[in-house]
Amino acid sequence: MLRLAAILLSYVFSLPANAWWEKEHQVVAIIAQNNLSEHARQQVHQLLDGDSLASVASWADSVKSDPKWSHTKRWHYVNFADNDSPQKHIPIPAGDILWALNYAYQDLQKPSATKQSKRDSLMFFVHFVADIHQPLHAGKFADTGGNRVAINWFNSPRKQNLHKVWDGLLTATKMNAEDYAKKIDRASKSQRVQWQNSSFADWAEESVELRPQVYDFGAAKNDKTVKLGRWYSKKNKAVAEKRLQQAGVRLAFHLNQLFAK
Ligand code: ADE
Ligand code: ZN
Ligand code: ZN
Repeated sequence: MLRLAAILLSYVFSLPANAWWEKEHQVVAIIAQNNLSEHARQQVHQLLDGDSLASVASWADSVKSDPKWSHTKRWHYVNFADNDSPQKHIPIPAGDILWALNYAYQDLQKPSATKQSKRDSLMFFVHFVADIHQPLHAGKFADTGGNRVAINWFNSPRKQNLHKVWDGLLTATKMNAEDYAKKIDRASKSQRVQWQNSSFADWAEESVELRPQVYDFGAAKNDKTVKLGRWYSKKNKAVAEKRLQQAGVRLAFHLNQLFAK
């Protein structure tokens, strides 16, 4: 009995202690930090009282359960039917990530906003730029962004879902966030410039355009849960890493513009 308890306990403690996608949010923030202008770097440092962008990148996830911030839960994603165009989407006031990105970015530009408000907006912005690049955060209504698509990841019997595959299972690594950011951030200058020339709606549209690839796996056989493993990972890991890199480069570009003077 004791032995069983010990096994169960060790299983519980081996689960990731951190929210999904936490390292991924850090990676995006580190890539952004490495691409900031000197002036933007100073402004960010001042607004965050010396905290790093990476250290606040998952703050928006951590406050979802706080009653003060529970209204922000819907700010992390937007859903589209397969034939909807993100370009024609009218952001739902206080209701989706496209609205929240605009709200935070505008607040950061307001001379009248308090430092506290700007600090919150910066923490939200850093987080949401990453979230919208996760293809399933511009997801389908039908399966709530893949959360209702049950899968098994490689040979683990643990029940997982497609959303979590893209939140972090695909990019799981023993590397620390700094090293992973360096490994990923390899794009050429011209590629970076091309990525920068884009709107929030464009980022959502790119996520929606990845849908056929994200959902490209066979149906479950004999009522078994779909297993995603080596084949799926090989096909999609580079895509997930490209999304992290685009998010980082674009976050830096927006902060450089914001703090240009
Ligand atoms: N949580 C994260 N992404 C989501 C989505 N696309 N729909 C519903 N809930 C979500
Ligand atoms: Zn989030
Ligand atoms: Zn997610």
